[in-house]
Amino acid sequence: MPGEVPPWRTALSAALQRGSKAPEARYVQLATVDGHGLPRNRTVVFRGFGPASQLLVLTDARSQKVGELTAQPRAEVCWYLAATREQFRLRSHCTLHGAGATGDWARLRTELWQARGARGQAEWLGTVPAEALREAVDDFVLLVCDVQHAEHLQLRTDPHTETVWSRMGDAWTTQILRGG
Ligand SMILES: Cc1cc2nc3c(=O)[nH]c(=O)nc-3n(C[C@H](O)[C@H](O)[C@H](O)COP(=O)(O)O)c2cc1C
Repeated sequence: MPGEVPPWRTALSAALQRGSKAPEARYVQLATVDGHGLPRNRTVVFRGFGPASQLLVLTDARSQKVGELTAQPRAEVCWYLAATREQFRLRSHCTLHGAGATGDWARLRTELWQARGARGQAEWLGTVPAEALREAVDDFVLLVCDVQHAEHLQLRTDPHTETVWSRMGDAWTTQILRGG
């Protein structure tokens, strides 16, 4: 899973550091498209970055978003950091790593499962196990959002600052639309 740290990630990491005590630093909105072409949106916990341009989310194979992302693997993640009045929107190509996961993503899935502990694992089991399970249950899914396009809006500056990053292969271009 090699890769260079993309510029939007540097900006997002810095913003998360600035607002790291705020609950919204952990929660993001994840929008998908359903089978009728209609938008679906929900709150999920941001579990950290992958090795390069990926955002990590944990979810349940039985949830609707998994079916939606299997059919249409595109999503947009949106963050609002109230303390610093910043918004990030991240258009992503998503992959799902569940029971059939292989390679590095399978190892990361197992690590994240073990890190949940018994109480965290209960979300997938429906009951708190007597002791934490080592092997992830089939419904435990690592959702990897590989960012293709990122937008950063800062409301604290006058005028507001809007920066857009676009990806071409492994390279990123930066455009400052306003402010800066
Ligand atoms: C604060 C908060 C955090 C949540 N975190 C997650 C999460 O990390 N993963 C997840 O699948 N659902 C999470 N949920 C539940 C989702 O918002 C959603 O209700 C659920 O995943 C079913 O969505 P779906 O039917 O669109 O798949 C969270 C909800 C809230 C309010």
